[in-house]
Amino acid sequence: MSIRYNKNVFFFFLFITVCFSVKAEDGSRLWLRFNQNNNQAVRFSGVLSSGKSLAYTEFQSAWDEMKGSKLSNLNELKDSSLVIGTLNDKQIRQFGFSKELKVLGSEGYIIRSVLLKDKKLTVVAASTDQGLLYGVYHLLRIIQTGEFAETLNIKERPSYSIRILNHWDNLDGTIERGYAGHSIWKWEELPGKISPRYIEYARANASIGINATVLNNVNASPKILSAEYLQKVRAIAGVLRPFHIKVYLSINFASPKELGGLTTSDPLDKNVKKWWADKANEIYKLIPDFGGFLVKANSEGLPGPMDYGRTHVDGANMLADALNPHGGIVMWRAFVYEPGDDRAKLAYKEFVKYDGQFRDNVIIQVKNGPIDFQPREPFSPLFGALKKTDIMPELQITQEYLGQSDHLVFLSPMWTEFLNADSYCNGKGSTIAKVSDGRIFKQKITAIAGVANIGEDANWCGHHFAQANWYAFGRLAWNNELSSEQIAQEWIKMTFTANDSLVKPISEMMLNSREAAVNYMMPLGLHHLFAWGHHYGPEPWCAVEGARPDWLPTYYHKADSVGLGFDRSSLGSNAVAQYASPLKDQYNDLATCPENLILWFHHVPWDYRMKNGRILWDELCFTYDSGVQQVRDFQKKWDRIEPFVDAQRYGEVQSKLKIQAHDAVWWKDACLLYFQTFSKRPIPYSIERPVHELEDLKKIKLDMIQHN
Ligand code: GCU
Repeated sequence: MSIRYNKNVFFFFLFITVCFSVKAEDGSRLWLRFNQNNNQAVRFSGVLSSGKSLAYTEFQSAWDEMKGSKLSNLNELKDSSLVIGTLNDKQIRQFGFSKELKVLGSEGYIIRSVLLKDKKLTVVAASTDQGLLYGVYHLLRIIQTGEFAETLNIKERPSYSIRILNHWDNLDGTIERGYAGHSIWKWEELPGKISPRYIEYARANASIGINATVLNNVNASPKILSAEYLQKVRAIAGVLRPFHIKVYLSINFASPKELGGLTTSDPLDKNVKKWWADKANEIYKLIPDFGGFLVKANSEGLPGPMDYGRTHVDGANMLADALNPHGGIVMWRAFVYEPGDDRAKLAYKEFVKYDGQFRDNVIIQVKNGPIDFQPREPFSPLFGALKKTDIMPELQITQEYLGQSDHLVFLSPMWTEFLNADSYCNGKGSTIAKVSDGRIFKQKITAIAGVANIGEDANWCGHHFAQANWYAFGRLAWNNELSSEQIAQEWIKMTFTANDSLVKPISEMMLNSREAAVNYMMPLGLHHLFAWGHHYGPEPWCAVEGARPDWLPTYYHKADSVGLGFDRSSLGSNAVAQYASPLKDQYNDLATCPENLILWFHHVPWDYRMKNGRILWDELCFTYDSGVQQVRDFQKKWDRIEPFVDAQRYGEVQSKLKIQAHDAVWWKDACLLYFQTFSKRPIPYSIERPVHELEDLKKIKLDMIQHN
């Protein structure tokens, strides 16, 4: 035998071994991985359930997977039993559960260790099947994360009554701002064929408390309301219903004209009103628990009531009246802006004047910041300003402006920064969490929306770590006071490993990742420096003939020989005036404005002294550089983890981190080299030197299919 032949045999065997010993890890199981070795040693002798609820079967199948052994169904209680369900009346009274459950509402639950006739039991109790299901997922979570204890006393109820995903999915299967493949909704196959993914989707959402979903893009096609499509919607609703997820639809305001053949879509026209009332009847006949409509009107060229000289109130209330007999609601978006005044002021200007005029079943959906999901924005001043109108935050889970599915950016810190921000609208401590969940101004409906990052990719979200953003949205929608640390740790333990020595570096990486992205993309309050046509890479110089100025980066950064940033102080656009005191004064004064927003609110001279003693230009350079260094650090952290993580997910994340490191340098060089043409100052000699020529960067045109 030649040496060459021997070598081949060796490789052949090696290949076989690898094939058999490594299980494919494509991320498709999300955080619902019950067969990991690190699940805690928890012993139950069996489960007693009052009735055959989904909660019960979900627990049993997860347990079977987790322990590899069946947990039997009990007829009578034994020591260490698990009780899932509502206890009988006597037991409920005995433990005082009934009063507590009432306070927890229809979605709340209790998980408690109790002694009953000397038997130690773990009880999951709720007043509805829905609450029970959430309780069971909570129990599974604490088993997965190693937090199950002999003595438990957990009481939970959600912060918002509607916790909703917004899919920006088009009927042709594409997704606006979607970076994880095509839509999971297979419209062409529905209603005849039900993809198994719909059930997995429902389970994943229910496991984190999401109870509603908008199936289609806010830039809605009128076709979604056609009889043909409503049958398809009905089929999806049927799959989601057992998991207590209600279906909503985005509607096109011109549907009466475009779909119904009327001559107008004027909201005050009686035929238009009738068309919507009839449409609502038709929908509810098919889907009795239909949630309602999400509406983008008179925004970015979409039709709306203003096309007919009417107002947002006229439009929203007309739709609300059509849905009201069925218990449906209208989520009316405040994302409106026209060229003219400072874009950051426009939603406030348009909506505050209507405060108190909307119907009870209308809620105004407001993006977290006043512009558009930028890496860092102050909170939208509509929060706290609308006092007699229900208001709901819209967060973006898909990373349109944060590296899409290429960059590892954990968004929870961005959302907690928003939720914990003090609006001062009702004195100190008026956080956005409290403003939006009805604790400050009473709301009839409370809700929070997240623009989904879900697609048909095997790992659902395009990047393994982007799953953490879907998870974090659900967890914060359930409890808007959770910390990002807790959410990250839960997710890591459920998705990767519960080994503490690994949880620590992975969570450090996640928790720093949003700030890193801000640093290498748009630090110090810079915003919207993105290239024309996609929102991925930098193009601060972008100039497109005939384009709306408020769609161009130069409108936002205002770089000139004096300095950088948008003057929104009282000497500029006066957007600061839309905030309550003392915040407005703090933002207004360059000396007290938080430095991480300084270029959002001020046009700052290049030689302005920052608090650390550096001049603005140097600080800008150091901050961009620190973003690059942070990503390099993520790469090092991740590489050390290699022996402990499955090869597939390890390798895929590693490749994405390489792209991120490359892009961070691209951002830094593009912005610094361009802004340097105004500052005319050297890039401080201690930081990494640019590796690109500005002129070369200006020539980059991204593949529009990938990144539009
Ligand atoms: C952004 C985004 C659009 C989207 C819009 C919206 O502008 O880029 O794709 O339609 O927001 O929220 O309506």
